[in-house]
Amino acid sequence: MTNNNNNPKYQALPEDAPPPYAGPQMPAPRAGPSNYGATTAPAGSHVNAPVYLVGTNAPVQHRYEHGMILIPVRQPVRMVCPYERKEVTTTVERHASGKAYCAAAFLAIFLPPFCFLPFCMSSCQVKVTVIGAAGGIGQPLALLLKANPLITELALYDVAPSAGVAADLSHINTPAKVTGYRGDDQLPAALSGAHLVVIPAGVPRKPGMTRDDLFNINAGIVKGIATAIAKNSPKAFVAVISNPVNSTVPIVAEVLKQHGVYDPKRVFGVTTLDIVRANTFVGELKGADSQTLSIPVIGGHSGVTIIPVLSASGHTFSDSERETLVHRIQYGGDEVVKAKDGAGSATLSMAFAGARFANSVLEASVLKKAGVKECTFVKSDVVEGLEYFSTVVELGAEGVAKIHPIPNLSEYERKLFDAAVPELKGNIQKGVDFVNKS
Ligand code: NAD
Ligand code: LMR
Repeated sequence: MTNNNNNPKYQALPEDAPPPYAGPQMPAPRAGPSNYGATTAPAGSHVNAPVYLVGTNAPVQHRYEHGMILIPVRQPVRMVCPYERKEVTTTVERHASGKAYCAAAFLAIFLPPFCFLPFCMSSCQVKVTVIGAAGGIGQPLALLLKANPLITELALYDVAPSAGVAADLSHINTPAKVTGYRGDDQLPAALSGAHLVVIPAGVPRKPGMTRDDLFNINAGIVKGIATAIAKNSPKAFVAVISNPVNSTVPIVAEVLKQHGVYDPKRVFGVTTLDIVRANTFVGELKGADSQTLSIPVIGGHSGVTIIPVLSASGHTFSDSERETLVHRIQYGGDEVVKAKDGAGSATLSMAFAGARFANSVLEASVLKKAGVKECTFVKSDVVEGLEYFSTVVELGAEGVAKIHPIPNLSEYERKLFDAAVPELKGNIQKGVDFVNKS
């Protein structure tokens, strides 16, 4: 059994520690000579995965049977996951043999991905490459990725110096080994072996500009990066942040097609910020916990192509509330551009959204976690005549596992949809033509 007694990542909390984390209390196990907590073993797990209980200072002895990890417990305990330190609950049931067992312990819903970490990290190498890592998004995104224990290697590439960012992040005591890369010569090494490539490279908007105004500069940048991906990491998942996303995603796809390495399941336009904004704004308006909301925002990522499906939020809105919310979600980017007054567009909220999306891809592909869903702009058949569209997408080991259809739309949302389609069509075609006609 692995002894992680001295590993600070897995320190148990003292028994009387105030519970600073959300999470249900675990009921006391029933009396019995041999009480066991049990959890279904995640895929790829093995008998040496460490388990720690609150109130003990040592890893808890456990055994592995029939896909379950059995943990002896002799007192009411709380289990705390490393990193997130969230509590998980368990119930006690009597085993058929007559022994008392805490059966089917960890309700999966309470298990953050990091709880599975010890099971996968011994065998997985997970390299994530950020292209544009020295920029306004790139730096905080790199920080959040460095904090993600699923990542073993973080490659930071930029045409601007990124060595300082890499050196800075490399002092953080999380697993990812951080390396900075700069310039065309180093791009192949930055990409080689990447599991996921995240692209926040390119120029941001200034007040008065649309995202499409960025096309002339960013299209070429993204095309160059996609070419390098095709040559150096053709199997990587690719998450495109660079605007205009409605056009840059088709650019990446067309370049990969030209190189014969396009897998539509692996190329994503990151629209997560629109969902994050929708959850935030609705939460604020309705006094709801925005972290519990999951409002689909479908379509694309610019102005009228952003279609918030507020009717699926579980809340009701007056006409004026709905108008205000929809406008704010569609033009949230402009709100930030205006507030930054020439100093760029959303960077910190985008880093948060990008890190969330990256984590979802990793949860699905590395941890093989089921039911991971994100709205993302992907190759899709859900709208006739549009090659790409964002709806809820279930992620799996190979990327896109299932594209959900457009949710039921209210009459108002149907009008939003009708306004989005022609704009999206033009944006997509512009990207396709850029690669094939230039
Ligand atoms: P930024 O200017 O602060 O950073 C961009 C970085 O990209 C810079 O460090 C730059 O050196 C680098 N870069 C430029 N060309 C490159 C190349 N060929 N290879 C590698 N790196 C290169 O800009 P930012 O605020 O970080 O925004 C980046 C992009 O993300 C913009 O296009 C912006 O519109 C977009 N964005 C998208 C979303 C979204 O929701 N998808 C949200 C916010 C911003
Ligand atoms: C956003 O939505 O904030 C980004 O797309 C950046 C922008 O230009 O608005």
